[in-house]
Amino acid sequence: MSVKNKTIWYCSSCGNESPKWMGRCPACGEWNTMVEAPAQTGKASAGVASPLRNDRKPQQLKDIAFSDEERKSLGMAEVDRILGGGIVPGSLVLVAGEPGIGKSTLSLQIPLHCPDLKTLYVSGEESAKQVKMRARRLGGSPDNCLIYTETLIENIISEATAINPDLMIVDSVQTMYSESIESAPGSVSQIKEVASALLRFAKGSGVPVILIGHITKDGFIAGPKILEHIVDVVLQFEGENRGSYRILRSIKNRFGSTSELSVFEMTGSGLREVSNPSELLIPMHEQGLSGTAICAMLDGTRPFLFEVQSLVSSAVYGTAQRSATGFDVRRLNMLLAVLEKRAGFHLSAKDVFLNMAGGLKVNDPAADLAVIVAVLSSNFDFAIPADFCFAGEVGLSGEIRPVSQTDRRIIEAERLGFKKIFVSSFSDTQQKTKDIRVVKVADVPELVKALFR
Ligand code: TYD
Ligand code: MG
Repeated sequence: MSVKNKTIWYCSSCGNESPKWMGRCPACGEWNTMVEAPAQTGKASAGVASPLRNDRKPQQLKDIAFSDEERKSLGMAEVDRILGGGIVPGSLVLVAGEPGIGKSTLSLQIPLHCPDLKTLYVSGEESAKQVKMRARRLGGSPDNCLIYTETLIENIISEATAINPDLMIVDSVQTMYSESIESAPGSVSQIKEVASALLRFAKGSGVPVILIGHITKDGFIAGPKILEHIVDVVLQFEGENRGSYRILRSIKNRFGSTSELSVFEMTGSGLREVSNPSELLIPMHEQGLSGTAICAMLDGTRPFLFEVQSLVSSAVYGTAQRSATGFDVRRLNMLLAVLEKRAGFHLSAKDVFLNMAGGLKVNDPAADLAVIVAVLSSNFDFAIPADFCFAGEVGLSGEIRPVSQTDRRIIEAERLGFKKIFVSSFSDTQQKTKDIRVVKVADVPELVKALFR
C-alpha cells in the first residue's frame, strides 16, 4: 500500500498524533504545540527486535521470581534512595533537566562510585576525550567503564547486546536517532523511537538503562514529556543555575514512591550528596533576623526544614511589586489578600519579595504558614526567634488548616533542636514531645497574637 500521507503531526507536549495541523491539541488542550514529523516507514517496528521475542509465554504471577536483592546499588546512597533502594534490572530511568544542571556529571559519577558494575556509557554529546577529562575532574577513571561515542540507536543496541553490561547510560536522548525514521535527531518521532528501542532492549536483556533528556526552562522542547509515558522512572533535576544546590526529584516511579527528593551540591569535583538537607537549608545565624521563618516541610517521605525569606518595603513606584522565587506567586498574592482582609494588615502599597532558601522549589501547602510569618516579620521588622518553626496551610477565610504527617514534621524539628513548632489546632498530633512545644493556632489573628504580642 502506498502511503500518501507522508507526514504526521505530533503534539510536543503530550505526544498525541494527528494527520493534520491543529492550533490546539485536542488531547491535552495546549496551544501551538503541534509539530510536523515524517511518518514512520515500514521498517520502524522491525528496527530493533527484542532478543526474547519467541520465549515469551503467559506465566503465573506467583511463579515469577523476584527479590529485592535484585536491585543494584549505584554506589550513591541518595540516588539509590530516590530509586526506591537501587536500580531495578531491566528498568528504563529517565534523568531530565535543563542543560548545564549536572545530568552528565551525575551519570558519570555513578560508574566512578561503583567499580563493581560493568557500565557502558554512550555519549552522543561529548567525545571520548572530553568524557575522560570530566572523569578525571570527578576523581578517577574506573577500569570497569566503557565509553562509546555513537548516536545510531541500532548500533548502540547491537553493541550493548554483545557487551551485556550491568548498567547502560545514554547521554542524551536528543542526540540519538534511528535509521528507520527519516526526521532529524531530537524530533518527536525520533525521541519516541529511540526510547522505545531502549525500553525493548532493557526489558529483553535485563540491563538497566539510564537515559538522559534535556528540557528547557519553558518546557518548549518537550521530548521528555512524551518520554514520561514510555519510561519506568522519571528523575527530574532542578535548581537555580546560580546556586550550587541541585535537587533530584522522582516524579514517576513504577518501583518506588514518587516525590522523593535528594539534594546535591555542585562542587569543583562533581556533585556531592547532601544527606541531611535540613542542616543546609536552615540559617547559620543564632539570633533570628526579621523577615525569615523556618518551615517544616515534607517532600515525599522525608521531612526537612528550610528557611523562608521575605522582604517587605514601601512601593517605590505606583504599583506594588510581588515577586517569589521557588514559590507560586499567585499563592503569595492569595496569602497577602488573606492577611489584608482577614487580619487587617495593609500590604497593598508594599513591595513584597519572597525567597525559598537554597533555590528550592516548594509546593508543599505547609509552607503557607512560614510565608505569612516571614512577610509579617519583615513588615514589622520583628525577628522571629531562630528556634521557632511552622507547618500549616492557610485557607481563604484565614483559618490555619492541618497538613499531612504533622507528627513526622514535629519529630524532625525536635531532632534539629527547635523549641516551638506552630501547627493547626485541627491537626491531631499524637506525638509525645520532650524538648519541643507544639503550639496550636486556629487562624491568622490567633497566630499573630501568639507571635507578635
Ligand atoms: P553537566 O553535567 O555537563 O550538565 P548537563 O549534562 O545537565 O548539561 O554540568 C555542567 C555544569 O556543571 C557546568 O556548568 C560546570 C559544572 N561542573 C562543576 O561545577 N563541577 C564539576 O566537577 C563538573 C564536572 C561540572
Ligand atoms: Mg550533558
